[in-house]
Amino acid sequence: MENFQYYAPTKVVFGKGTEDQTGQLVAEQGCRKVLVHYGSGSVVRSGLLERIGRSLDEAGIAYVSLGGVVPNPRLSLVYEGIELCKKEKVDLILAVGGGSVIDSAKAIGYGVANGGDVWDFYEKKRKAEGCLPIGVVLTIAAAGSEMSDSSVITNEDGWLKRGYSSNYARAKFAVMDPDITMTLPKYQTASGCVDIMMHTMERYFNRSDNMEMTDGISEHLIRTVMKNAKILMRKPDDYNARAEVMWAASLSHNGLTGCGTDGGDWASHQLEHELGGMFDVAHGAGIAAVWGSWARYVIDARAERFAQFAVNVMGVTPEGTDMETGMKGIEAMEEFFRALDMPVSIRDMGIELREEQMRELAEKCSHFGKRTIGCIRKLDKEDMYRIYKNARG
Ligand code: NZQ
Ligand code: ZN
Repeated sequence: MENFQYYAPTKVVFGKGTEDQTGQLVAEQGCRKVLVHYGSGSVVRSGLLERIGRSLDEAGIAYVSLGGVVPNPRLSLVYEGIELCKKEKVDLILAVGGGSVIDSAKAIGYGVANGGDVWDFYEKKRKAEGCLPIGVVLTIAAAGSEMSDSSVITNEDGWLKRGYSSNYARAKFAVMDPDITMTLPKYQTASGCVDIMMHTMERYFNRSDNMEMTDGISEHLIRTVMKNAKILMRKPDDYNARAEVMWAASLSHNGLTGCGTDGGDWASHQLEHELGGMFDVAHGAGIAAVWGSWARYVIDARAERFAQFAVNVMGVTPEGTDMETGMKGIEAMEEFFRALDMPVSIRDMGIELREEQMRELAEKCSHFGKRTIGCIRKLDKEDMYRIYKNARG
């Protein structure tokens, strides 16, 4: 087992009706003026925003609002939020939404707490030295941003999607009421479940040894999400299934499933981020579309790990070589994606990739030839191109 630090400082308030505690949770932080940040309207239609407003009023917290965050959240709205927070002297940003809203809130928080252009952090030109406190009322189980240290923003200038991570942006509290996720469209529920699984799978496919505890947590987490995702496809209003998936989303990306490992591979995520930036696809669906292509490309570098995954997670009976068992696990995972109506190729998302677009994706994903991705096998620009090509469908 490798040395590790596990830091998960977010206070989680989980269960039915917990959104009514939001005002009190803000007050506990010693904050008086909040920016309520939200997306394209689901929280208005469901009445959640109104309930949050009431809870803030009752706790004597003043607030201003900024909606309009879209999936693959845009830098231009982040700039607008920074100006608004400065003008209104906001001291906490309350993200009411999913990964996109939370990530936008974190970026605004960096922009207010640090001088200069906030995009510098996402370009890795400098490091943030603080962030305005972030609070979350979660509406979709997916990205895990409610407990993670990261934030992913899309710059419309060049359509570059870039991430930045630091502990400063970890949410002070996260309110999670599974009931709120009942209004999710089926596609978003499925896409979210894929993302949750992938946050653990990216960590699971690593080059470390001897992580019995972490492997056990990870394998069980993935199986639990698979089981409950299938229930939700039939019964979207099943509270227990919503609750299992929601808690798994946070545990999958708060660092727990990476303890004692080298951190994992993350190539599928990096490959998807460019698809999200260029084609605006739902993040989890985009990963489902490239994962099989990535897995087949790297399996021979760590066949025994793929075999373990196939047996312990996918229920494959080991037969023949590790390569053969591992391949069966990949096929079983793609079968599961299909059962959720998730894509297993880029064409399945309605995108007919042209040759020059595959080259452009590989250019951008390799940061114009300046970086490699992945740890199972280090992938350069040419490898990325081939994985996109094999994923094209
Ligand atoms: O904008 P509204 O109207 O709210 O609609 C949203 C949006 O269209 C809708 N939705 C959310 N909650 C709902 C709902 N509709 C009905 N009822 C509800 N209760 O769902 C759509 C997707 O929302 P979004 O926030 O984009 O989803 P998700 O949580 O999957 O976030 C995706 C973003 O997070 C990034 C992704 O790259 C992507 O940009 N990620 C962030 C990470 C992090 N910060 O740690 C890690 C992830 O790997 C990921 O990269
Ligand atoms: Zn993800």
